[in-house]
Amino acid sequence: MIDQYKRQIDYMRISITDRCNLRCTYCMPVDIERLEHESILTYEEILRICRSASELGIRKIKITGGEPLVRKDAINLIKEIKATPGIDFVTLTTNGVLLEEHTEALAKIPLDGVNVSLDTLNPNTFKKITGRDEFVTVWSGLQKLIKSGIPTKINCVPQKGVNEVELMDIAELAVKLPVDVRFIEMMPIGYGKEYEPIKGEEIKSRIKEKYPNIASQKKIRGFGPAEYITSEEWMGNIGFINAISHKFCASCNRIRLTSRGFLKPCLCYGDGIDLMTAMRSGVSDMELKNLISRAIEKKPLEHNFDRQEDSFHPDSISQELKRNNMEKREMFKIGG
Ligand code: 5AD
Ligand code: SF4
Repeated sequence: MIDQYKRQIDYMRISITDRCNLRCTYCMPVDIERLEHESILTYEEILRICRSASELGIRKIKITGGEPLVRKDAINLIKEIKATPGIDFVTLTTNGVLLEEHTEALAKIPLDGVNVSLDTLNPNTFKKITGRDEFVTVWSGLQKLIKSGIPTKINCVPQKGVNEVELMDIAELAVKLPVDVRFIEMMPIGYGKEYEPIKGEEIKSRIKEKYPNIASQKKIRGFGPAEYITSEEWMGNIGFINAISHKFCASCNRIRLTSRGFLKPCLCYGDGIDLMTAMRSGVSDMELKNLISRAIEKKPLEHNFDRQEDSFHPDSISQELKRNNMEKREMFKIGG
């Protein structure tokens, strides 16, 4: 479907749980109030939304969290989403803690890709960032994933004074392993507001100093806004998601569904449509499709992290978007 600014929206990120088995300082450092099971979408409801969304042109789905693999039976849900007519690609973002036990099942689906969040290669720093001593578990899960043949990406959020010194080592994973390493600028969302982002350009020029032969990789990889560099000698690529220093809203292709069934056209604002309440009060398939298409149509022009506004168009916003303006901007609720 095309939105009001002529962008083609064909990608939906679905957060299937708020819960997580790590406590990253910039995301969910303290225990969150556990949502009752009734206040999150059931798998049937998620699948119903996927069917409607696919009829509106959504072709690619990303499963996120919290940590998606902590939700019971997540593998079966992923399998069913992948089997939904019209959905061509399904990928997963995970912190990797539960990868080892699930990789085989994921490869069997077959899943189209997995992004593993990994901010450090140092077990002590890992514990400092995530609050848990799980580096070794994540590392062996990652190795198994790579061996399984599922296309693998590593997501790293550079943090001043925390993992700054090892960014080159992390980048070089793409030299030795068939993975794409992506550096994601810290966004001022939730606890991320406390951090000063390290610019992607800064990291790129450090890499260029060491590898003068790198070229930008023009062939678009993945569904998102990452810009890649590569070299013939490397097994993988290095990417940069510079949401803050280079706004890429003009080519944004996505909407986001939270675990509470709130459909957000943009991660920056609280606005969205409460599909859970709509479904539980008995909307027809046609009405559900209309609600989703309204959210897509109303997608705002761009994020406004610099101004910290919570609503994208206070004057002309449709009633249901306004009424449902209740979703707080916290990454573990939105799923990145
Ligand atoms: N800014 C950028 N990335 C973030 N993530 C979590 N919080 C933020 C933030 N404020 C990342 C995680 C993970 C992905 C799902 O989102 O590190 O890689
Ligand atoms: Fe969990 Fe990911 Fe948030 Fe860390 S960044 S607490 S792994 S959801």
